[in-house]
Amino acid sequence: MNFDHAYNFFMIPNGPTPLELLKHLPRIQKDPVGYLAWSANNYGDLVKYRAGTVDAFLVNHPDSARLILRDHHNQYNKDTIQYNALARVTGKGLLTNSGEHWLKQRRIIQPAFARQRLAVIEPYAIQACQSAIRRWMALPKENRVIDVDREMMYLSLEVLGLGLFGSDLGDQLKPLVEAVLVGLDYIMSGARNPLRLPTFFPTQRNRRFLNALKTLDEAVEGMLNRRKQLGLGDDLLSILIRAQEEQGKETLPDRQIRDEVVTLLIAGHETVATALTWSWYLLSQNPEQRQQLFSEVDSVLNGNAPGLDILQELTYTFNVFQEALRLYPPAWLITRKALQPDDLSGYTIPADALVIISPYTMHRHPDFWQLPERFDPNRFSAERFNHQHKFAYIPFGGGPALCIGKNFALIEAQIVLASLSQVFQFDLAKQEPVQMDALVTLRPRGGLHMRLTER
Ligand code: HEM
Repeated sequence: MNFDHAYNFFMIPNGPTPLELLKHLPRIQKDPVGYLAWSANNYGDLVKYRAGTVDAFLVNHPDSARLILRDHHNQYNKDTIQYNALARVTGKGLLTNSGEHWLKQRRIIQPAFARQRLAVIEPYAIQACQSAIRRWMALPKENRVIDVDREMMYLSLEVLGLGLFGSDLGDQLKPLVEAVLVGLDYIMSGARNPLRLPTFFPTQRNRRFLNALKTLDEAVEGMLNRRKQLGLGDDLLSILIRAQEEQGKETLPDRQIRDEVVTLLIAGHETVATALTWSWYLLSQNPEQRQQLFSEVDSVLNGNAPGLDILQELTYTFNVFQEALRLYPPAWLITRKALQPDDLSGYTIPADALVIISPYTMHRHPDFWQLPERFDPNRFSAERFNHQHKFAYIPFGGGPALCIGKNFALIEAQIVLASLSQVFQFDLAKQEPVQMDALVTLRPRGGLHMRLTER
């Protein structure tokens, strides 16, 4: 007798029946993250959803997350609804790709994120903050209210574009970025409205989407040509062009380069921006922690800009960002398709199962986090975090497909938090509950309007 299957017999994971799931549908559509959190609380660490022919599992134990993302990562791929929707814009870039093809691409792109290369972020992030400060200072003092969500998007896009492509291509960024935003908007509205007509129906929205894809293709091609004219450096495009010259167009076609560029713009822009937005929100709700951040920034920086060399001294600032990523992980959903049966928490999930790992629910697991709802940046102090299960904290995923832009994001965020905190205090413009909108990333619904006070 196969022991695993005997075990299965006793370890049936909990979950809603198909009828219950149908009843939950309005809630799932309205508040998917809340529903996942409720499921984990209600049914436990492995929740089974039976819908149609495929079984889906919410995996909420860090041991199982480690198996899926790291130890058995070869037994899973990204052929899931989530990644297939994204692939309509990004094509087969790193984020949506799996297997051998993914590994080859990852090796090509990795040098663009090497530590020494990431030094380029520093001046761009500082400049972007300085121009934001100038813009906000120009607002009338008594009514300095900004939509932080929008402002952080703008800021992070500037840093990402310049950081990835180099400042000499800055003037080429605008059409590319606009087309990426239309593409993202289309994916988001698809998430809101799964009954939308397929792309080949000539609705206005579909036409806009197809035009945006065309603009994207042309913009990337334009940037590649311009990079070749200006000469190669060590930026992302140069790395891709050099790899193409070495390996030939059959191995690395133009289309693949386009897909990687679009992927990085999408993966690296909204994620950083929303994490920063939530950081400002959390600080506004926790004055004591905010004061601690101000004290650190004032004493370490003494009025100077936060250069790379000093970032390691801004530990509390860093921990504020880590804690914001814990409570509001921008990538709130990580999905995989099982290529073969696998044992999780003593239960064998079948081949083809959809596996869902939600950093949002994992980061609130009461067995792994004390007072999980509390904003406590000190939980990331070295003494405390060293004892943490590493797969209970997965804002950047884990294993070989760990976010390639993790250090990019962390450096940028630390500079932005420190630079802006030197000058402003952020408070909610209206003291009303902020709701989450779980789309491509986890964002505050309707933006986040905050009042800036000069410190
Ligand atoms: C706070 C900011 C960020 C968060 C929370 C975040 C989160 C994540 C997560 C959770 C994954 C793993 C997805 C999975 O395994 O299914 C991932 C992968 C990825 N991220 Fe990020 N990310 C951030 C910033 C960035 C930046 C700045 C870039 C690029 C400049 C980037 C590019 C990517 C790429 C290309 C992948 C796919 C990696 C691979 O599969 O090899 N991310 N990110």
